[in-house]
Amino acid sequence: MTVEKVELGKMLYFDKRLSGDDTIACATCHDPAAAFAEHKAVSEGIKGQKGERNAPTVLNAAYHPSQFWDGRAKTLEEQALMPIENPIEMGIKLGDVVAKLNAIEGYRRAFKKAFGTEVTAEGIAKAIAAFERTLLSGDSPYDRYMAGDKKALGEEAKRGLELFTGKALCAACHTPPTFSNGAFVNAGVGTEREKPDEGRKKVSGSDADWGSFRVPSLRNVADTAPYTHNGSIATLEEMVAFMAGGGRPNRNLNLLFKAMPELTAADKADLVAFLRSLSGEKPKVSAPKLP
Ligand code: HEC
Ligand code: HEC
Repeated sequence: MTVEKVELGKMLYFDKRLSGDDTIACATCHDPAAAFAEHKAVSEGIKGQKGERNAPTVLNAAYHPSQFWDGRAKTLEEQALMPIENPIEMGIKLGDVVAKLNAIEGYRRAFKKAFGTEVTAEGIAKAIAAFERTLLSGDSPYDRYMAGDKKALGEEAKRGLELFTGKALCAACHTPPTFSNGAFVNAGVGTEREKPDEGRKKVSGSDADWGSFRVPSLRNVADTAPYTHNGSIATLEEMVAFMAGGGRPNRNLNLLFKAMPELTAADKADLVAFLRSLSGEKPKVSAPKLP
């Protein structure tokens, strides 16, 4: 990472000219004002086309062992070029975007400074990934509590933490400190009846992965509603009720999901209070001046 790469990546992240009709940037769907996610069930790309999945936040994406709900990209660099070429997201060929940016004097200069080359697809990916690696968020009430500040969590959130890491079994998948173990899991969001998204199976080809998605990190989760891969769950309260209810039965539901009638309404409220304590300081980023 160098200052030049990060600055260039930031420009690219906010630049709508990286789309086929100059209307969509990374920041459209991963908006700093929406904790680098968006408050829509599923994303809308160029010409109002709707996708099938909810846009996760890019905050702390640098820590994910894979990218996308189905993990089809291994690195941030590999990930960054995919939405550009995706016909329903930014909808432009890489060759065309490279030519477009090479015609802009300011970008030619910025690429020269960052990479010593003209504009290349590889450079676009590297610069955006470098910028994303600066989008980290920590120092949440939970982190301060774990660092020894016993007043950082209220009583509800403290009980929620006990439940989360104890009998509610949440931490088996949402493992601290990222609150994801990186595994692909069928959480019972889709059932056979509605022809659900096959998730990880589309990548691995294995039926064992049918309807499985990467366990999402829960950091800043209070700021990124709606929830799940298809944005079908609107609030944290409903989300906790869904998880504690054991998901919806389907042929591949993970064995850890079972209804937990022993969790009372107060327990669920405590879990929600705990989840709210996972929101931390966010980088203050505003759109840069574009060349
Ligand atoms: C039209 C909306 C849209 C645009 C534009 C868009 N994204 Fe996304 N992004 C999504 C959606 C939806 C997903 C999840 C898709 C999936 O998992 O299949 C996603 C996933 C990601 C992820 C993976 C996060 C995770 O937790 O796995 C990263 C990183 C990311 N996008 C970065 C970017 C960058 C960088 C750009 C610009 C080059 C960009 N996105 C443009 C909607 C968008
Ligand atoms: C067996 C693994 C597993 C367990 C146990 C588990 N989860 Fe999840 N959780 C997931 C997966 C996988 C998803 C995403 C499902 C999808 O989108 O289809 C998810 C989604 C979520 C989300 C939505 C996050 C987002 O950004 O969309 C929240 C909140 C959540 N879980 C909280 C909990 C709580 C609270 C518990 C304990 C009561 C729990 N989970 C137990 C695997 C698990």
